[in-house]
Amino acid sequence: MVGSQALPGGGARPTHSGERAVAQEDGATTTPPAVLDGDEVPLTFGAALRQRREALRPTVSLRAMAKEIHFDKSQVSRIENGQLPTPEFAQAVDTYLAAGGALVALADQARARRHPSTQAAQLPAAPNNFVGRDLQLGRLHALLAEATAPGAMAVTVVCLDGPPGVGKTALALRWAHEIQDQFDGVLFANLRGFSAGAPAAPHQVLEELLGGLGISPDQVPADPAVRAGLFRSLLHDQRFLLVLDNAADSQQVRPLLPGMPNCVVLVTSRQRLAGLAIDPGARAVTLNPLDRGEAVTLVGSVIGDQRAAADPAAVAALVQRCAYLPLAVRIAAERVASHPHQTVADLVADLASESDRLELLSAADDDTMAVRAAFSWSYRALEPDAARMFRLLG
Ligand SMILES: Nc1ncnc2c1ncn2[C@@H]1O[C@H](COP(=O)(O)OP(=O)(O)OP(=O)(O)O)[C@@H](O)[C@H]1O
Ligand SMILES: [Mg+2]
Repeated sequence: MVGSQALPGGGARPTHSGERAVAQEDGATTTPPAVLDGDEVPLTFGAALRQRREALRPTVSLRAMAKEIHFDKSQVSRIENGQLPTPEFAQAVDTYLAAGGALVALADQARARRHPSTQAAQLPAAPNNFVGRDLQLGRLHALLAEATAPGAMAVTVVCLDGPPGVGKTALALRWAHEIQDQFDGVLFANLRGFSAGAPAAPHQVLEELLGGLGISPDQVPADPAVRAGLFRSLLHDQRFLLVLDNAADSQQVRPLLPGMPNCVVLVTSRQRLAGLAIDPGARAVTLNPLDRGEAVTLVGSVIGDQRAAADPAAVAALVQRCAYLPLAVRIAAERVASHPHQTVADLVADLASESDRLELLSAADDDTMAVRAAFSWSYRALEPDAARMFRLLG
């Protein structure tokens, strides 16, 4: 571990040659922060690092320090010259140079300045009363562990695919919220791959993403290649989670991928993104409808567990009618919730006759039929889900 390494020459970690112990009024001593120069002007992280390191010369050369903290010498040099350090790097040099947290604090400040605390705000809220998906969450966490293992060579791209309304966005947001603390920042973009209008053009999405990194519209390069280059260099050596929701195809996604393996990209799409599957860091997870237990839990969370438990057979029939598709289950459950004085069994009988009527009229597949029936049955067409389903069904 970096923190327990002795400095060259053996012995205990030396105190800074340039360090003055300052007496406080209560008699305790403290070390002046490395972040201020003689004129009390705050130093950048890189400048403070170099100052600390040079104060320890000849004991500590750049090469020796890089070797001891297990970072590449050229990387250390780039950071001394202004590149933003990762939290791990800042911690390693802080410990090695006995900076007492001053370097870590400077790195935190630099990151906050570069990314004005908007990353988390870019992530929409995960759906309330999210249920189940333990298996899929476990798989996503395992993929993340692989991605962060030492020696990872390529940016990790996880593609979550599945039919409309199966819960891709819900799961993506749930996972992103669970893991966001492990990243320097999180960026989110809706690629509008299957919305009413045309899919978002990659260069438009890049403008949005650059906005999330604190780049104002007038600073965004017009040339798409330069724009993509700026995006990649801002993410260079930073650990970002990028959520690209609702992608149309691989061509739309590819220009948005960061270049470095320290980032993780989660893409959702109604299609399997076969073009991305050949990339070394790409993994696919296909989402199926909920299992029966999960669908029943979802109904309970919308209509109340007590009401659901009062007629389990009716609830089971309800979720089956909805083909266990979360979108259909949620809409049907909301209809039940809005009729507190009718029994669940009566309401399910109602839904069943609606489904039968539609089945006579349409040759749609099970999922589409489930959504169509739940929608047509719902009187609450202004609910956001119902409105979206309306678009979905054309
Ligand atoms: N695990 C879940 N628990 C609770 N609600 C869920 C779950 N999964 C999905 N939902 C709900 O089902 C509805 C549809 O989910 P979502 O929008 O994630 O589907 P999608 O697969 O992204 O669809 P689309 O292809 O249209 O983008 C939403 O209201 C969402 O909140
Ligand atoms: Mg979605």
